Amino acid sequence: MTKDENQVASETEVRATLKAAQETSKAIAADIAAGNVGKYRILTGDRPTGFLHIGHYFGTLKTRVDLQNLGIDTTVLIADYQVITDRDNLGNVREYVLNLVADYLAAGIDPEKSTIFCHSQIPAIHEMLVIFLSLVTEAELHRNPTVKAELEAAARPMSGLLLTYPVHQAADILCAKANLVPVGQDQLPHLEQARVLAKRFNKRYPQRDPQTGKKTGHGVLPLPQGLLGQGAMILGTDGQKMSKSRHNTVELRASEDDTAKVLKKAVTDSDRQITFDPVQRPEVSNLLLIASLCTGQAPEDIAAEIGAGGGGALKALVTEALNEHLRPLRQRRAELMRDEGYLWSVLARGNEKVRDEANDVLREMKVAMGMNYGV
Ligand code: TRP
Repeated sequence: MTKDENQVASETEVRATLKAAQETSKAIAADIAAGNVGKYRILTGDRPTGFLHIGHYFGTLKTRVDLQNLGIDTTVLIADYQVITDRDNLGNVREYVLNLVADYLAAGIDPEKSTIFCHSQIPAIHEMLVIFLSLVTEAELHRNPTVKAELEAAARPMSGLLLTYPVHQAADILCAKANLVPVGQDQLPHLEQARVLAKRFNKRYPQRDPQTGKKTGHGVLPLPQGLLGQGAMILGTDGQKMSKSRHNTVELRASEDDTAKVLKKAVTDSDRQITFDPVQRPEVSNLLLIASLCTGQAPEDIAAEIGAGGGGALKALVTEALNEHLRPLRQRRAELMRDEGYLWSVLARGNEKVRDEANDVLREMKVAMGMNYGV
């Protein structure tokens, strides 16, 4: 093996992992559609680095709400310690956390059904990290392609936390004994890392009866699966990846006027005849897709309706569709933001619940390790 191969997962490996994950996801989605929801425990999360935008909403947030409403036990993590993996500064982390809670609730995450928590408030997660770090090698950590891409984007030296955050993330997932993690492709290496860690822990430290100390033959930790491709992938208003740093997003909290302003500047092309052709006309097709997600109408039909109306008519239509679709969410959001105390209390309740669960899991892990000293 060359030094290079040892450092990054090869293309072939990445492709094989993706194909396997797509197949598993399809099978799980079919299982859920058939009503088998009781066996799944979902954990998903976001880093509080900014305000949520329509890319998050159509890509992940709506799916979380749907899965919750199907009756799946859902936990949503605000990964605040992950913010400092690739930057020196937490920014307005408190404001971002508060706004994330507001976005979640406004979009339909129901605190009576789902749990929202912040990992900085759960000491057991960080203690699990210590155990998990003993189960990986440095070479394995360097092979994670997502970490490598983030290192390049950060343009600063690798921090210890950036190198090890996939292990930290495994603790996020496993502290809640979650077995299903809705993810985008970039998170697949992290999920594989979590599975490897759970397997290694279970093998090295088989579960024991806390009273007798005898092995029970089960593993303490579940092997989590990724659930890919449930949401829609939309692009930014410039046709590139939607991201705050590119200024091509529409934030959920934006006013209707600001939404109109952003969409007015959206990139289109010079062909006045509007058609849905994601390969040849990605920008125009992306706007049609957004309108379609809002109205439920097929993008081809929307294109036919606009006909030769050009980019201006398309933008006016998308603006109206998006503002109308988001109006109830934005109204709820504004109301929620008027009662910060309530939002913090939802988070505090979630933190408390996960703290108890995580303590139980950590205790079980310590029993398996023979580190229960009886006090
Ligand atoms: N890394 C994820 C992201 O950047 C956020 C995250 C942290 C997460 N811990 C997690 C996602 C656990 C799923 C499960 O989006």
